[in-house]
Amino acid sequence: MEPVRLQRYLARCGLGSRRACERMITEGRVSVNGTVVWEQGARVGEFDVVMVDGRAVAPEKLRYFIINKPPGTISVDQDLRGRRYIVDLIPGGREMGLFPVGRLDLDTSGLMILTNDGDLGNRIAHPRYGISKEYVALVKGRWSIGSLKEASRDGVKLDDGSLVRDIVFLQAEPRGDRTVVTLRIHEGRKHVVKRIFLSLGSRVIELHRSAIGELGPGGLREGEWREVRKKDILERMKT
Ligand code: URA
Repeated sequence: MEPVRLQRYLARCGLGSRRACERMITEGRVSVNGTVVWEQGARVGEFDVVMVDGRAVAPEKLRYFIINKPPGTISVDQDLRGRRYIVDLIPGGREMGLFPVGRLDLDTSGLMILTNDGDLGNRIAHPRYGISKEYVALVKGRWSIGSLKEASRDGVKLDDGSLVRDIVFLQAEPRGDRTVVTLRIHEGRKHVVKRIFLSLGSRVIELHRSAIGELGPGGLREGEWREVRKKDILERMKT
């Protein structure tokens, strides 16, 4: 293994995203060859002894999974109410150091990538890379594709005054007094789809993520997952 930056090495040990690993360094929890290292850029290689909280860590085999998240599961590992963490749907997920790339709300279903590869996670989730995501939303009211395009032509202003640009509305199909809307967005702000529709004067009743870039759930039913290759993911990431 070529020497790599410490935070990258830690992420490869399955300790979370690169940012989470940077925090471990800042908190003084990481030592290399017996000395606490505070410097983010320190380089480490295969002959260095790296410890976190006094325990030796070593790079793991990198694993990649896609899962169709069922509603009612959470994508953050900090829940005091006993709700199911998405990583626990994959046997041994915690032991492998898996974490979800990005977040979906408790009641949102659909595609998530789980991995222990902090580099890849960062690359896909970081707004800088602008990987697009496709959602199917059941929303209140009757909308035509034309009215949605018109209402979002100059972007949509959210409740905090920020603007979401580049919303691509792909389909709007009436369902009674509701509409099933397919849209693609390029960012991952919290509750962003729900907030877009609130700004447009509607409300999301159900939300499903149908793609990340060009990667879809490929026939997985809710709660089902599949291991994939890194290449399968990277080839399908588009902005
Ligand atoms: N937008 C939302 O409102 N919720 C999600 O879970 C994802 C995107």
